[in-house]
Amino acid sequence: MLGLAQRAVDRQWRLPIGPLAGRYNPYDPAYIRDPYRQLDRLRAAAPVYHSRVTGSYVISSYALASEALLDRSYSSNRGLDTSLRSRMFFRLARFTPVERNALDNTLGAVPDEVHQRMRKAIAHDFGRRRITELLPRMEFWVDKLLDEAAGRQEFDLIEDFSAKLPVLVAAELLGFPPQDARKLQEWSDSYLVLVDPLIKGAGIARMNAAFHQFDPYVVQTLDRKRAEPGDDLITRLLERHRDGEFDDVQLRVLIMMLMIAGHEVITNLIGNAVAALLRFPEQRKLLTDDPDLMPSAIEEFVRYESPIQAAWRIATEDLEIAGVRVPAGRAVTVLIGAANNDPAEFDEPRRLDLARTDNQHIGFALGSHYCAGPWLARVEGAAALSRLLERFPGFRGDASRLRWKPAAGLRGLYALPLVL
Ligand code: HEM
Repeated sequence: MLGLAQRAVDRQWRLPIGPLAGRYNPYDPAYIRDPYRQLDRLRAAAPVYHSRVTGSYVISSYALASEALLDRSYSSNRGLDTSLRSRMFFRLARFTPVERNALDNTLGAVPDEVHQRMRKAIAHDFGRRRITELLPRMEFWVDKLLDEAAGRQEFDLIEDFSAKLPVLVAAELLGFPPQDARKLQEWSDSYLVLVDPLIKGAGIARMNAAFHQFDPYVVQTLDRKRAEPGDDLITRLLERHRDGEFDDVQLRVLIMMLMIAGHEVITNLIGNAVAALLRFPEQRKLLTDDPDLMPSAIEEFVRYESPIQAAWRIATEDLEIAGVRVPAGRAVTVLIGAANNDPAEFDEPRRLDLARTDNQHIGFALGSHYCAGPWLARVEGAAALSRLLERFPGFRGDASRLRWKPAAGLRGLYALPLVL
């Protein structure tokens, strides 16, 4: 049963439908099936557009999206949104002070100097060299999951493989025991509500319930690592915490974020990549014949069907973008998926070209909030896809019946049944 406050939050998001939704409606079933046609029309008509559905200014051209991500006049702190809708949301969502404090200490919300310290603290562990050293461990988990799949009549790439892998890898990197993967996965899933422009009351309740289990679990893990340090990221973050680089809450929230941030996106990277290979058999053949193409293929998968489709920013001062006035305190949605399919930047963007040259996609964003885990995504994505293609070169699936999740901020499939 939804509580009164949750129902109130949900009611305020009654979606404008049909023509009232205007030019951008990421919840329209046609958009969910294929966003790119609508995004092409939107970009051509109004590359900066005030959307009634999201209540934000949406940017759909590559040039303007890149500029916005690099522009320091925006903040990533969604708490700074002064629109009536956002103020109502925070009032109705009734966060407790502890819950609100956790939200205010995420990487998007902390002050710049704390943000820089946090990014520095994780830079080594998420850097190319360290992540590449973890490749054998990633291959171990990939093979374990594929061993379980071998010989099965039915195999869902998403549920049986791509949703399980990132949790196992991230848990190991951070220092959580692999047997806790299932609950870590459930907690991570509850946070996806934050990436959606239309946050629902029921989703907030689920997220807060997860927080009240996840946070004490992190506290226990920190106590354990204090007593028995390991060769893992949590132990290294504890040392920095001891040196006073960040406080207790910041440490715990950072650990939770690192667990959550890479989960759904890597699931979607792998799922979207396999779906794209089913659609473009000649590209699949190219990659099977030339595995060295994998690094460039991964970049193309991130561009072609970007796992994160949108980033949110709040204007901290009155701005004008391509002639459209954006008042201070209003939200701007950078449509990464639209930018990555802008024909002004990419030749034939809806053609998957695994050998595409000069692929300057913005799938990992740009600027100070550039993704913290691109190397983990690249190396893990490559390990997963290489092994799948090697071990089951004849896998089959139906690319004409893809069921996409209706999430405006993310792009991923509910399921992808394969015959191995
Ligand atoms: C294909 C996989 C991935 C994609 C497409 C992706 C994309 C992105 C994008 C677009 C942003 C910017 C969001 C914004 O500014 O609003 C971001 C931020 C972030 N990503 Fe990723 N990501 C991926 C994998 C990962 C992984 C594996 C991790 C590992 C923990 C990770 C951790 C983060 C973190 C912590 C941030 C916030 C950075 C900050 O605010 O300073 N990501 N990612």
